[in-house]
Amino acid sequence: MDKKQIRKEIKEKLQVIPQAVFKKWSSDIATHLVNTDDWKQADTIAITISRGTEVDTKAIIEKGWEEGKVIVVPKCEPQTKDMTFRILESFDQLEVVYYGLLEPKENETNAVSSSEINLIIVPGLAYNQKGYRIGFGGGYYDRFLSKYDGRTAALAFHKVQLVEELPIEEYDIPVNMIITNEQVILCR
Ligand SMILES: Nc1ncnc2c1ncn2[C@@H]1O[C@H](COP(=O)(O)OP(=O)(O)O)[C@@H](O)[C@H]1O
Ligand SMILES: [Mg+2]
Repeated sequence: MDKKQIRKEIKEKLQVIPQAVFKKWSSDIATHLVNTDDWKQADTIAITISRGTEVDTKAIIEKGWEEGKVIVVPKCEPQTKDMTFRILESFDQLEVVYYGLLEPKENETNAVSSSEINLIIVPGLAYNQKGYRIGFGGGYYDRFLSKYDGRTAALAFHKVQLVEELPIEEYDIPVNMIITNEQVILCR
């Protein structure tokens, strides 16, 4: 199967997760994440604003704020396929951009450099046990991670988003660990 087919199949599976199960799994993933050494040791954490069928990141962001972490979220540049992370201190600093995506307002937030980030929560649709992932097809994170030295993690619904095999291309960069509702998988 190619990446496009896998994206379609996983999206369909995600769409039929009952709301109560989705909430429970998201909450279990958040608990597992904040108990990892990588989370505990990180001062600055990059994470996306989840939407639709993605693992819910709202509670994770709020937990980070409570613990005094610096939370940074991506602002994408579709022209250059570049991405900048900006410090988010309140959900009021977000605005809706293309496709209903929420991004930080540039006039209300400050950017950080990649060297200031300790842990990046990398979004995606499917992962294998080695930490390779299929994202949404923009390649934004592969590009950003090629110039990043810190730690990386992905969040995944265990029975839905973990797959045995997936196509890997030379520019794909695996994450260090996958946090699921069932366990923490150390990848590399
Ligand atoms: N490091 C990189 N530099 C330049 N282009 C890249 C890089 N990584 C990925 N890309 C481009 O991004 C596109 C999407 O990558 P892909 O891995 O299919 O998406 P995703 O990781 O979002 O699933 C690829 O066609 C590739 O050309
Ligand atoms: Mg990729």
